[in-house]
This record gives sequence, structure tokens and C-alpha cells, in this order.
Amino acid sequence: MHKPVLLREVISNLNLKDGEVFVDATYGAGGHTKEVLKRFPGVKAISIDQDPETHADITGNFRDLDKLIGDTRPDAILLDIGLSSDQLENSGLPAGRQGRGFSFQRDEPLDMRMSGKGITAAEILNSWDEPAIELILRGFGEERFSRLIAKRIVERRQTKPFKTTFDLVDVIGGKRSKIHPATRTFQALRIATNEELAALEEGLEKAWQVLKPGGRILVISFHSLEDRIVKNFAKRVMGKARKPITPSDEEIGENPRSRSAKLRIIEKP
Ligand SMILES: C[S@@+](CC[C@H](N)C(=O)[O-])C[C@H]1O[C@@H](n2cnc3c(N)ncnc32)[C@H](O)[C@@H]1O
Repeated sequence: MHKPVLLREVISNLNLKDGEVFVDATYGAGGHTKEVLKRFPGVKAISIDQDPETHADITGNFRDLDKLIGDTRPDAILLDIGLSSDQLENSGLPAGRQGRGFSFQRDEPLDMRMSGKGITAAEILNSWDEPAIELILRGFGEERFSRLIAKRIVERRQTKPFKTTFDLVDVIGGKRSKIHPATRTFQALRIATNEELAALEEGLEKAWQVLKPGGRILVISFHSLEDRIVKNFAKRVMGKARKPITPSDEEIGENPRSRSAKLRIIEKP
């Protein structure tokens, strides 16, 4: 079950009061929203997730936030981006249903679409040209061996198209060290499949547009590429970016997934 990250810090920084409107744009397992409603029963919460398997009020991408919420003007918006543990681990999937290939630890169809729509990770590997694949591995995965891996991907698909996660793990090869050699390639491919960085940039713009004056956007990100986008956005709209809030040692001990989380707060004057 997904554990909400930086829960205490999110609750105290949302600054909500009874009667105000909170939009959780990345509902996931609902951990943050449920705590908000427990603490502030008088708040109106609207939840969004692009994954139709979650129980959000609205299924959609936060890059379309303005259209998804219509005339609503929220007082606070939360983006807790990336994957939930449920998506990664497939807990909760009915027996016989396969996961979507987010993890290199299990052999599953190489899909990686959070929304279930658009081009799959396998289709990217089977059709994009070598320089484009190299570019995503380098740009979205900061993978040192991007050229070599891209070359091997294109070689392999000439005889055997990519179907499953282990097809890709086999091609990457490499020695096991502290970090699995497939980690960066999988991250890069997931970001490309879901257009995650473009969605974040557009989502921030839309959130800023719909937010009430005096309102706040809270963003939790999990790697430097995302945090850079949030930091630059904060600098542009507020003229400055404060230091991000990070999890306590206690939280990292209880939930290792939280270790790379960074929370930034963007306030609208
Ligand atoms: C880290 S989880 C959120 C967990 C949630 N805060 C909780 O405590 O249960 C991220 C969720 O955001 C969703 N998501 C990621 N990018 C999205 C986007 N661009 N638009 C809408 N939902 C998105 C994913 O499908 C996933 O369910």
C-alpha cells in the first residue's frame, strides 16, 4: 500500500481553512487527500489522477487542469508526481491481471502508460530512431552508457521486437552494483512514455492560472530533472525559490521511497 510522502509537512504547508477548496492533482491511493479531509472536514476536496485504476473524482492529466476543474478556483493544489507504490508493485490488481512494466524486477508487458492511453514504452523502443532513443536515455535518465544501450536496442529489434521488461533488461546487461544497471533506462523510458516533464511544466502553468490569489501550489518531486523544473518555475513567478523541504531521517527509515523527495511551495500573491 502506498505511504503518503511528507504528509505532516504537506498538511501544515497547505494552509487550509474550512470552506476552502483543495485540488489533489495526483490522487494515487488518496493518502494526502484522506488526511486533509480528516484534519479539515470543512474543506472541499477535488481529486484528479490520470490513472483510471485509482479512485480519483476525475480521471485526467494535470496538464489539462484548467479544463478538468472548469470554473473552480482552488485555494491549494498538490502535485505529488511520479509513480505510486501501487503502480510499481501492482498491489490491488485482480488475480490474473498483469502489471504495466514499470519495474525491471518482474517480467511484464513493456507498457509503462499511467493513463493506459498513447504510445507504449515497447512501441518507443521498436520504432524511434537510434539518436532519439539515445537522447531520452541521456536526457531523462542521465544514463552514462546511453549510446551503447541505444545501439543495442536498435540492433536487437531488427530480429526480435521488444515485448516485455526482461527483453529490455537483457539488452542493457551490465554488472549489478548498488544500483541495478537498468534503473536509469527504465526511468528515462517511463518519463518519455508519459511525457512527464512536459506534463509537469504545463501542469504548473495551469495550476498557477486557476489558483486563487493568496493560494498555494505544493509540489513533491523525486528526481533532479523534475525539481529543476519546479525550482525554475518558482523563481519565475515568485522571483525566488526557497530551499525545498525534505523528509526527516525518521520518515526515510520508515519509508525508503521517500528518500529523494523534495517539497516546494509556490505562493500566489
Ligand atoms: C506518487 S503518486 C501519488 C500518491 C498520493 N499522493 C497518495 O498519497 O496516495 C503519483 C500519482 O500521480 C499520478 N500522476 C502522475 N502524473 C500525472 C499527471 N500528469 N496527471 C495526473 N496524474 C498524474 C499517477 O498516476 C500516480 O497515481
